[in-house]
Amino acid sequence: MKIAIIGCGEMGWQHAECLTSFPQIELFAFCDQDLQRAQQMQHHFQGEIATDDPALIWEKPDIHVVYITTHTNSHRDLCKRAIQAKKHFMVEKPLALTSREALEIYEYYELHAPSLIAMSAFKFRFYEMIQKARTLLSSVYMISVQIMDDPWPADFWANQANVGGGNVLSQGVHGTDLLRYLADSEPDHVYAVGKNYHQSTRVVDNLSATFYFKNGISGTLIVGDCAEAPLVGKFMVQMHGREGSLLLTDRLTRLKFKSATGSGIQEWKGEESGFMEENRHFLSALLGNRYIPSTLWDGYMAQLMIDSAIESARKKRLKEIG
Ligand SMILES: NC(=O)c1ccc[n+]([C@@H]2O[C@H](COP(=O)([O-])OP(=O)(O)OC[C@H]3O[C@@H](n4cnc5c(N)ncnc54)[C@H](O)[C@@H]3O)[C@@H](O)[C@H]2O)c1
Repeated sequence: MKIAIIGCGEMGWQHAECLTSFPQIELFAFCDQDLQRAQQMQHHFQGEIATDDPALIWEKPDIHVVYITTHTNSHRDLCKRAIQAKKHFMVEKPLALTSREALEIYEYYELHAPSLIAMSAFKFRFYEMIQKARTLLSSVYMISVQIMDDPWPADFWANQANVGGGNVLSQGVHGTDLLRYLADSEPDHVYAVGKNYHQSTRVVDNLSATFYFKNGISGTLIVGDCAEAPLVGKFMVQMHGREGSLLLTDRLTRLKFKSATGSGIQEWKGEESGFMEENRHFLSALLGNRYIPSTLWDGYMAQLMIDSAIESARKKRLKEIG
């Protein structure tokens, strides 16, 4: 299966490294607006093509799959081009710059090529300790997710409103997707507080949002760049339910569980296995099982949750979702 990577930066390399573990895959073509970056990857992975023109990828019938790992402002057009060219694709999060654009991608896909395997990359779903947490607590009442980073540089592309949307969108979609995945339900409404605290880019840079899901579960997301919390690390999750409470820290690799019935605390340590596992699932869908574990709809919903939370914070009002 011949694969093209469009966007030869950090995520392009990350996915390509994962793909080298699968003998069914040929890392065939590399595309970047900066040709040198494409050439570096082509050389490293011994691919056939390095280009700065995505048209070359779309017109090649023997390229079956495309990874879209460019900056967020280019996702909508590249996804639509992949759909027109009938290429299966994985697109990095966030699906687009706004939930309106994300919905446009989803609807375009549903209308023109719903049989394609199209996956929104949401690595958190696949972490070993996230999967463990789901087996420990099947009846959950409340979930909280925290993604707290050190202050982002003002000139970082992802911090620009019209390129990456700022960290609340860019990282926050990991959190909203995880809340929705763990709650196993669609969100009904949100109440949030947050604003631009310090970024000269004027994006909302820190946000605290509580979502109420249709099945009654409450999920809170804290996301921003106040400064990484030293005791829990950048990513933290807590879940409380009938069977007990659990805490995931250290980038979701360390899990502590206190059962409601037993005494003492059980602990597990896992790997940051998200990237590898999401690629394994994508490949498995491509090779025939067709199950897409994080869809374009999931990409849209994660983004709608963030947009709704920002609107709630701006208007100081509860916001219905959907
Ligand atoms: N899943 C995760 O944990 C995670 C982590 C970081 C970034 N991301 C996402 O991955 C994507 C890429 O981020 P990154 O950190 O790899 O950025 P990066 O800057 O390291 O790489 C992006 C590359 O895309 C190229 N590019 C930009 N627009 C292009 C276009 N229209 N056509 C061709 N090439 C183009 C740039 O030249 C650059 O080489 C973003 O959507 C980001 O939000 C996901």
